[in-house]
Amino acid sequence: MPPAHRDARPPALNADGRRKVRALVPALLKWFVAHARDLPWRRTFDPYAIWISEIMLQQTQVKTVIPYWERWMRELPDAPSLAAAPQDKVLKLWEGLGYYTRARNLQKAARVVMEEHGGKFPRDFTAVLALPGIGRYTAGAICSIAFDMPTPILDGNVIRVLTRLFGIAENPREKKTNERLWQLAEALVRRAAEAPPTGVTRPASFLNQSLMELGALICTPRQPRCGECPVRSQCTALREHRVESLPNLGPRATVTARRFLAVAVARGDQWLVRQRPGGVVNAHLWEFPNVELPVEGDGVAAAAQQLIGVHRDLKPLMQIRHSITRYRILLEAYRARVKSGGDCRSDHGRWLALEELEHLAFTSAHRRVLEALRRSTVEKSTPLSA
Ligand code: ADE
Repeated sequence: MPPAHRDARPPALNADGRRKVRALVPALLKWFVAHARDLPWRRTFDPYAIWISEIMLQQTQVKTVIPYWERWMRELPDAPSLAAAPQDKVLKLWEGLGYYTRARNLQKAARVVMEEHGGKFPRDFTAVLALPGIGRYTAGAICSIAFDMPTPILDGNVIRVLTRLFGIAENPREKKTNERLWQLAEALVRRAAEAPPTGVTRPASFLNQSLMELGALICTPRQPRCGECPVRSQCTALREHRVESLPNLGPRATVTARRFLAVAVARGDQWLVRQRPGGVVNAHLWEFPNVELPVEGDGVAAAAQQLIGVHRDLKPLMQIRHSITRYRILLEAYRARVKSGGDCRSDHGRWLALEELEHLAFTSAHRRVLEALRRSTVEKSTPLSA
């Protein structure tokens, strides 16, 4: 299917819908100009910098992303530096953001930019969309924000804003409703580009960002600030007291409990760690030896014996609760000490000192285990009088 913004037909909106779009656009733009947060990636039109911000902002909050984005831009300021970077460095810069496929795809895409676009980020929606890790939303966001193209965007925030403004009760994940929402997003950004209010120099960019910003600051999932909303007079959900019930995302995915054992084994001042293989969740990241346990019961000693051939003198270190997609995971971490490498099964692992571990990219949960080990080691070696 051709990209929507190339299609010459106006989106299918009835007269009421068109009237609403005409009223919404200037109000949204005026509000954005007055209330936009000063975010570091809003100070540039560099498509590379905007691309990095958009990928980081998927599934991650703005306040978390800011220091990651700033460090990334210092270390890998353009596509050539990203394409040439060792993968370990890319993963280390991403460490803690989760969903590491995003980081691997960024590097793949930077290599495509080098090979197919002479090192310059393409200025064409279809070429941007063809890059690894870039879908319709991200291509629309980059092209509108960097190049002021009237390319629509639709993510969770925008879905919430549009289903409420237009009173759409159908599930936005259903194909027909989703396509309708894309059409609304397109009608808004096109209208902004075709009839920009005086003084708005980047109307497509600002319109799209106003939808993101409204969803983040005002039209929030819970306790939306309808009293401060610049488009409340146009909001069907507010008029019909349906704000809290929209969007209608259908039943929640069922959550599954899982339990893992991790053992941090020391030999002298070295610790046993291993790197996850490619093609799995958290591929290529580092972790302590670990294995899944039955959710109920004990099973720790038997699992540790099977995992590393050690089952005695396991000292509880910490318990970490975290989530990956629909899994609620409990990680039970223990520490153990062996006299020589032969006292423990270390197949595929490496023995490294704490300082060396600092330079590796760990999964988020195992980084917390590493931090706990470092704290306990520092506490032990710091005299009480210090
Ligand atoms: N969420 C997604 N993209 C964003 C952006 N450019 N600014 C703020 N929040 C966002």
